[in-house]
Amino acid sequence: MTQDELKQAVARAAIDYVVDGAIVGVGTGSTANFFIDELAKIKHRIKGAVASSEGTAVRLAAHGIAVFDLNDVDAMPVYIDGADEITASGAMIKGGGAALTREKIVASVATKFICIADGSKLVDVLGAFALPVEVIPMARAVVARKLAALGGTPRLRVKDNQPVLTDNGNVIIDVVGLHIADPVALERDINMIAGVVTVGLFAERGADVALLGTADGVRTLTF
Ligand code: A5P
Repeated sequence: MTQDELKQAVARAAIDYVVDGAIVGVGTGSTANFFIDELAKIKHRIKGAVASSEGTAVRLAAHGIAVFDLNDVDAMPVYIDGADEITASGAMIKGGGAALTREKIVASVATKFICIADGSKLVDVLGAFALPVEVIPMARAVVARKLAALGGTPRLRVKDNQPVLTDNGNVIIDVVGLHIADPVALERDINMIAGVVTVGLFAERGADVALLGTADGVRTLTF
């Protein structure tokens, strides 16, 4: 199976976690996009969705799924999203698509976080994937120095020779070379740095369920 077929398989499996009549929190990225396409097939069963990025909102709307402002939503049973890495205890690195802040906010309102990913995202220790950190632009240099002091190599994310800007107008610093033995502690430490908006560690509040696509089928981990 191709990686896309594995992503499609977990996107289909995630539909079982969607609660009829409810609002669904929807993540960002290629796996989340497959999920949106599956969600469109059962859109008559849900009230609507909250999007974790402008891109996701556009795709949901294009499928005719009602997109709610998070400020108008008190609770949602599930948030469904991909990950860049996930451990066997449900801690994740996210933010490869630069949507980490809105992802963390929407996930915080959901009762359950359902992670959907191809099996290659399962790791023993987080950190081989560069850790994204969303940073207020004026704090770029000072935050980079503080991230370097934590042992990583900070790199400003650029595209076409320009800093990548998030949906919130901030920059992303990717931290290379970390071996994250204690993701909860590192998440707290990086979030304490002035100028950091969000670190792409989802450990304090990790996944509740992971659906991982493998050649043998969808593997379900519950945490
Ligand atoms: C978006 O900012 C990310 O957190 C994505 O959820 C993550 O990068 C996974 O993306 P893919 O599903 O494209 O691998």
